This record gives sequence, structure tokens and C-alpha cells, in this order.
Amino acid sequence: MGIKFYKSQEFPLEMHKVRTIQKLNLLPIDERLKAIKKAGNNTFLLESNEVFLDMLTDSGVNAMSDKQVAAMMMADDSYAGSESYKRLESKVKEFFHMDYFLPAHQGRACEHILSKVFIKPGNIVINNYHFTTAKAHMEINGGQVLELFNKDAVEPKSENPFKGDLDLDKLQAVIKSEKSNIAFVRMELGTNLIGGQPVSLKNLQEVAKICRKNNLLVVFDASLLTDNLYFIKEREKEFQHLSIKEINKLVFACADIVYCSFRKLSSARGGGIVTRNKDLYIKLRELIPLYEGFLTYGGMSVREIEAITVGLDEALDYEMINQGPQFIAEMCRMFQENNVPVITPPGGLGCHLDARAFLSHLKPEEYQAGALCSAIYLASGIRGMERGTISESRKEDGSETFANIELVRLALPRRVFTLSQIRYAVDRISWLYDNRHLIGGLKFSEEPKVLRFFLGKLEENQLWQEKLVNKFKVDFGDSL
Ligand code: F0G
Repeated sequence: MGIKFYKSQEFPLEMHKVRTIQKLNLLPIDERLKAIKKAGNNTFLLESNEVFLDMLTDSGVNAMSDKQVAAMMMADDSYAGSESYKRLESKVKEFFHMDYFLPAHQGRACEHILSKVFIKPGNIVINNYHFTTAKAHMEINGGQVLELFNKDAVEPKSENPFKGDLDLDKLQAVIKSEKSNIAFVRMELGTNLIGGQPVSLKNLQEVAKICRKNNLLVVFDASLLTDNLYFIKEREKEFQHLSIKEINKLVFACADIVYCSFRKLSSARGGGIVTRNKDLYIKLRELIPLYEGFLTYGGMSVREIEAITVGLDEALDYEMINQGPQFIAEMCRMFQENNVPVITPPGGLGCHLDARAFLSHLKPEEYQAGALCSAIYLASGIRGMERGTISESRKEDGSETFANIELVRLALPRRVFTLSQIRYAVDRISWLYDNRHLIGGLKFSEEPKVLRFFLGKLEENQLWQEKLVNKFKVDFGDSL
């Protein structure tokens, strides 16, 4: 922090060095065309060796530290009473400032258990914004997801530094009319589907105050916590003088229950639920051995448990967590220089393209974000993720639920990519923007009922992919 440059504008500077690498493969464009067609234009279905820069997700693919890898070698492989688990449990208590921890194999397993225990058919679950798997679990258990976001949340361009905040007036109003029917209030720190947008600490404190007064349970999803902590420190004046550790303590003072995907939060694979309330802990505990595994591993490997323990310390180290959001901001800045529409302000997790603005000549039912994802792969070998209408599910009458905001996410797994790789992405996608009129829409050829974005297949709704490939060859010649 605080490094000034002599000749250059500020740019993000990594406070780590790379000591292990993985060689990458960039297929020629004709092979990329074959691969994306075979994958049904769904980037989840591409093989990793068909992908050049994998910007699908940050889940389980952040770069681990030397200390994490070293800790994995020391794991105690016991089914019951593992020393590795004891180390994690004590670190989790210290990190979240709560006394009771339940391990699970990943974030959605926690969503499964929390929904099963707390949601009765017909209940409302209040969210600042939903997440795909969280919503699916809430609905399967008979709950109805109610999102109380501010209008800025779904404006692609905004100056609001905390688009993830819950609208407190709407919260008061729902409590007034529906109080006895609310299962819990879920705050996602920060919000995945609207572009990794953070929640302010002030908002969390207000939400907690209102919920405590009304005896409502506050559940935090802390999967994307590290970016959110960084944004509180950088953007929330009132708390700027505090360290990340001090901010973290104030954040969790506002929750009754916290769950997270450690795949994101601590760069190793697992999940867990934490609470300060013994009765709630006992209620939830029964389901862990049934669905996850014995209480001292919860479906996680002991090696991953050791890496999570170290990762939690690193999650409170400013120099370890600032690289992600700073690279994302730099990528957004470069896109904006070329007029490519991105979500602003830049959030965490990845750089988000506004597919509705990028492909404004397509209709929402042609799946703009899905089509753009497919075109990006063709033009660059980069795998992004559709975060728009395909990631929603159809209404009961079979009609589409058009997403509030139609995004392509270019995730930047923490500490994985270099600035030159980001420049390549910006270059190819800027070319695509200037040739956007060649991109057409998609339609489903295979459509699963639940979480269709994972396994669904789509095809072009008019012949456009080959034309795009031909234009690429004209402009780039034999270049990959
Ligand atoms: N909550 C949030 C905010 C998430 O982003 C995720 C996963 C989960 C819960 C579920 O956790 O994957 O460990 O079961 N997000 C990933 C993504 C899959 O790519 O955004 P999980």
C-alpha cells in the first residue's frame, strides 16, 4: 500500500512472487469453434485443456500460498478427533468471533442444512441478493426468496460504492406485514450475481439492529468476504482507520450465523457454518453426520482442512487480499478505455461485462450473456461464466425469468493471472466489441429443470459463429 510511481500512473503491484506454474494451451480458432459447439455453448462443459485463460470462477482455484501447501503435508488423517480439525476449529472461532463450528464439504452444503432446519413451506427468506445455489435450496424447502436491494444494485453503471446494501425501509415494511413468516435474513458479503458488489459495514450494523429488535435471525454468507473487507477499508470513510482484522470483528458482531464456501474465502476446498448460539448449533449439528461426514471433517479432506486454517490467517492480511480487487479495477479501467461496457464500480471476484449493453441488438430471450460467453471463447480461448437469464430458472408456467442484470463474469481467481494476460483478454474482447454486430443469439437444445446453467446445452439461433470466426481470420491472419 502507498507505493508511488515515478513515470507511470498507479497500477496494482503484487506483493508475492510466483514459484509454481502450470503451462497453458491456446487452441487455434477452428478447434475452439468445434470445442464450444461440442460443449453446447456452455462454458461449464468445456474441458480445461480446451481453455487458455480460465476465468470461469474463483471457486477452489485461487493460487495457494507456500504456507498453505506446506501445512497440507502435516495433516492428521483421522476419521474422528483429528488434530487437523482441532486446529481449524480453533482458527474459525478466532476468525469469526463465534464459539460453535460445523464443517461441511462446500458452501451449498451449508445452504442445504440451513434451509432444511430454518425454512418451513410458505416462509419468506429475505436476501440482499440471491445466489443460485442458495436460492435453489431455499425454494426446494418451500421458501420464497425476497430480495430487498437498492435500485442501484441492478444499474450496470453506478457511483454507489456499496451496491450490495439491503434497503432498510423495505426491510422495515416487510417486517411489519410478514414478521411471523420470515425464516431468516440472509446477507451475502459481497453479492455474487450483481458483479461482486460489497455491503457496507454500516448497513450490516443497521440490519443487525433491526433484526435483533424484531427477533429475526441474521445469516451471513461470507464466501466473498475478503473482497468485501477490502472495500470497507477502501471505500467506507468511517472505518478506514481500522485494520482489516478490526473491521472483520465488527462485521461478524452483526451476525447470528455465518456460513461460507472456503473454496473462495480461504483458497482451499471446504465449507462450514459458525454460530454464537449453542441451541442453534445443536439443532444444525444433527444433520452434519447425515449429509456431510463425521463432525471432525464434514466431508473435507484433512489436507484441505490444514490449508483452510492457514488461508483464514491470510484472509486478514491486507497485502494478500488486495491483489484481486485491484486487478479487477485495472481490468475494468482498460475495458472502459476501449468503450467496452463493464459493471461499475468494479467489484470483487471478477470483471463483469454488461452483456445487455454489449449485445443491445439481441433480445433478452436470445440469452445475451450466454451468447457473449460463447463469442469470447471463440475470440480468445478465455472461459467466462454466464451470470444472467440462463442462470435463473423458468417460472412455473414455463416462461423465462429475465435476470435483473445480464452479465458475463470474467473471474480473476486470486493471484493466478498476470497483468499481461489481462491485457490479452482486454485486447481480444475489445475486438469482439467492435465486431459485436456479428454475434447472434442462442437457444436451448437440452434444458435441465434445476440449476440449468450447469449442464444445459444451447445452439446458435441463426448461423453466426462461423461468420465471426471468418472475420477473426481476416483481422488476425494465422494468429491464434
Ligand atoms: N455463496 C456464494 C456467494 C457463492 O459465490 C458460492 C459459490 C456459494 C455460496 C456456494 O459455494 O460452490 O462452495 O458450494 N460460488 C461459485 C461461483 C460456484 O463460481 O461463483 P460452493
